[in-house]
Amino acid sequence: MARTRAMRPTPDDLFPTATSMEQACTESSIAALLAESSTAELRRDEHVAYLRRLLAPLPAPYVTFESNRAWLIYWVAHALDLLDAPLTGSLQARAISTLLHFQAPDGGFGGGPGQLGHLMSTYAAVCALAIVGGPGPAPSAADVAAGHSVDRGCGGWDAIDRRAIYAWMLRLKQPDGSFLVHEQGEIDVRATYCVVVVATLLGLATDELLEGAASFVASCQTYEGGFAALSTPSYRFDGHGVRPAGPVALQAPQGEAHGGYAYCALASYVHLAQVGVPGVPPVHVPRLVRWATSLQGAPIEGGGFRGRTNKLVDGCYGWFCGGGLHTLLEELATTSTERAATPRSADSWETLPEPRELLDREALATYVLAVAQAPRGGLRDKPDKRPDAYHTCYNLSGLSLCEHRVRVSDEALAAAAAAYEALVPPDRRTARAQACFAHTLAWSAPARSARVAATHPVLNVRLSRVAPVLTHMYAHSV
Ligand code: FPP
Ligand code: ZN
Repeated sequence: MARTRAMRPTPDDLFPTATSMEQACTESSIAALLAESSTAELRRDEHVAYLRRLLAPLPAPYVTFESNRAWLIYWVAHALDLLDAPLTGSLQARAISTLLHFQAPDGGFGGGPGQLGHLMSTYAAVCALAIVGGPGPAPSAADVAAGHSVDRGCGGWDAIDRRAIYAWMLRLKQPDGSFLVHEQGEIDVRATYCVVVVATLLGLATDELLEGAASFVASCQTYEGGFAALSTPSYRFDGHGVRPAGPVALQAPQGEAHGGYAYCALASYVHLAQVGVPGVPPVHVPRLVRWATSLQGAPIEGGGFRGRTNKLVDGCYGWFCGGGLHTLLEELATTSTERAATPRSADSWETLPEPRELLDREALATYVLAVAQAPRGGLRDKPDKRPDAYHTCYNLSGLSLCEHRVRVSDEALAAAAAAYEALVPPDRRTARAQACFAHTLAWSAPARSARVAATHPVLNVRLSRVAPVLTHMYAHSV
């Protein structure tokens, strides 16, 4: 990998600017770390201890996290799951009970108790409950005190108000297929992604909810090939009122392509196309491949990823642009015509030959292990930064898809489609729910010994967590 190739600094025009100096500092701090640790190991036990400390009462500066508590629980629970050190006993019961207190009366989860439902918090809470929860009602206060939850049939999944969440997500849907992040909030592709994941995990995927979402996502693709946060229509006055001037396909992307949005866009797009939701236009795959592959850093940047053109590498993009985005892209760029839901763009695109590699996985793993691990546990953005729950979660998620070749398996797809029929009586089956169930479970990876467990490229929940929650939710439709 990186260190066997030349460690050349990024050339510049000898006219120093703030950004060129930051780039040079980043390169020299990464190069120094690579020189001293050629074979870094994952310091698992230190990371587990660090993550568990984040579930204890937090110091005062964390008061700014009051609207992000669902996220904090998701980042910690998922990172611990990847490290094979899941929450159990009283921490598990407390996590379930706490998350369920974030449900908003009008639908969805807020970032903390008494807060407005927000799609981002709802994504985090539902994923966290998929990880730590199980069938049954919420654990009572006595259960929490005794450390009982899933083991006693009170894992909280039946306390999720799915009917209210569905109605709320429909209210957030806009005419162009986009979603508001909360009532009277802003629109962006993160909202689309959260709807796709929440609907998938809770068995709420319908055409009423999802039709048009992929058109909106596709319209966010920029000239670079990545995806911007959103697109907007131009408007015209038609004598009666102000209306969008043209179809969604002609909406202009707003702002530059960014890895965080690109991941949300591509995960939504690939899933909607696989599931066969009506109205999935082509995206420009060659341009997307070119942009995505260009984000992986040079050897002197440790093989980490940047989030956008000409910015610094950062460990969290090992997921959003690295393992997560590239696993989806490898699937999109290879999808066989039999599996097929994915439309092709007019531009010719040769499908990727086996082994379908677009990402230098060894190089990215080196960034995570040699650059992103903080000395006293937790993972970080880059050498001069402190670790935090977000970077710990996403560095480990990126490492997961470096270690595991998670792919859509035709055998798993057929088995899951049959499992749906065994689970759901004929009068309650729908083609869309069956496709959603089967395609979500079709992502699989050969078992192998690895530092971290395999994660799902669309949901970013450990693969082994997906079947139990889907089986429960699809068997008990709302
Ligand atoms: C830029 O930060 C970051 C953004 C504009 C947003 C990133 C979005 C995500 C990570 C999406 C997450 C959503 C879900 C639902 C998983 P910056 O300017 O500080 O960083 P940069 O210089 O690296 O671009
Ligand atoms: Zn980051």
